[in-house]
Amino acid sequence: MTEITEAFLRALPKTDLHMHLEGSLEPETMFMLAQRNGLTLRWPSPEALRAAYAFRDLPDFLALYFEACAVLCSERDFHDATAAYLRRARQDGVAHAEIFFGPQSFTERGIPVAAMMDGILGAIAEAEDAAFSAGLLVSVHRHRSEEAAFEVLRAVEPWSDRILGIGMGGAEIGNPPMKFARFFRAAQDAGFPTMVHAGEEGPAAYVRDALDLDVQRIDHGVAAAADPALVADLAARGVPLTVCPLSNLRLNVVPSLAAHPLASLLRAGVRVTVNSDDPPYFGGWVTENLLACAQAMDLSRAEIVQLLRNGFDAAFVPEPRRAALHAQLEASLAG
Ligand code: ADE
Ligand code: ZN
Repeated sequence: MTEITEAFLRALPKTDLHMHLEGSLEPETMFMLAQRNGLTLRWPSPEALRAAYAFRDLPDFLALYFEACAVLCSERDFHDATAAYLRRARQDGVAHAEIFFGPQSFTERGIPVAAMMDGILGAIAEAEDAAFSAGLLVSVHRHRSEEAAFEVLRAVEPWSDRILGIGMGGAEIGNPPMKFARFFRAAQDAGFPTMVHAGEEGPAAYVRDALDLDVQRIDHGVAAAADPALVADLAARGVPLTVCPLSNLRLNVVPSLAAHPLASLLRAGVRVTVNSDDPPYFGGWVTENLLACAQAMDLSRAEIVQLLRNGFDAAFVPEPRRAALHAQLEASLAG
């Protein structure tokens, strides 16, 4: 039995490096936003919506996730959704958060990119202080075309100084990272750190693709565990994996958390981190993800601390901020 408790985990400074703003809305917030915008959801209540959170796989989840994007319409909506996530993350003991946001779900409904960017970036600026940092990762959809991804890159250019990185999510199978090779090269040439979802539902070969694209981080990446040579390469190159264990469980990527490869990847020296993905949909924020893993995988205190250190090392922060995060963890463990 693990000695790790929820209170211990909540009190430690943590990162959340893989969390989608569109997937952060609590059902109650979705109903509030729908009402604000004169929309009617097809569920009678927040409780009924929450009860619909039972997913067969990633595409099944994405159908609901994209449908629910309809409640976000105005700059104020994007601001309030971001502020709500940041407040909740802080309560969870997150000291640094990086928020994925995919403009294509909204540009296709005619919403101006400025409303999204100004709302999100405004809420981030208001939430940051000496103890808490956050940033935006702009994400494109892999089930759309490479040209559509280039359009996103052009559209967010006016905000490039305030974007931490460029990533890619969406329906994975049949859409390998290499389909977007020119896009990732262009994002890197424009000076952005890049990351890509790979090896969530897709095979280890997609994680190899991601490595070959020279991205700074790989989101999920758990399929790599099936390929020992790839695991060795990930460890040797120190490329972080932003793993989301409860997401993997709820989307049936793994049959149980006991069978999840997080612990074996960590013990093989891969820089794995624990993150929340779409927290209300999957039943947990970072603390719940860490606790569920500690219990199912019998993680030691030293292994938990390594996961948190990996988060600080994988974060897109200036070096003084990284040092402060590490120091805050040391102080918290000593106290
Ligand atoms: N967008 C939001 N959550 C996602 C996930 N788990 N995989 C791919 N794209 C996503
Ligand atoms: Zn994700």
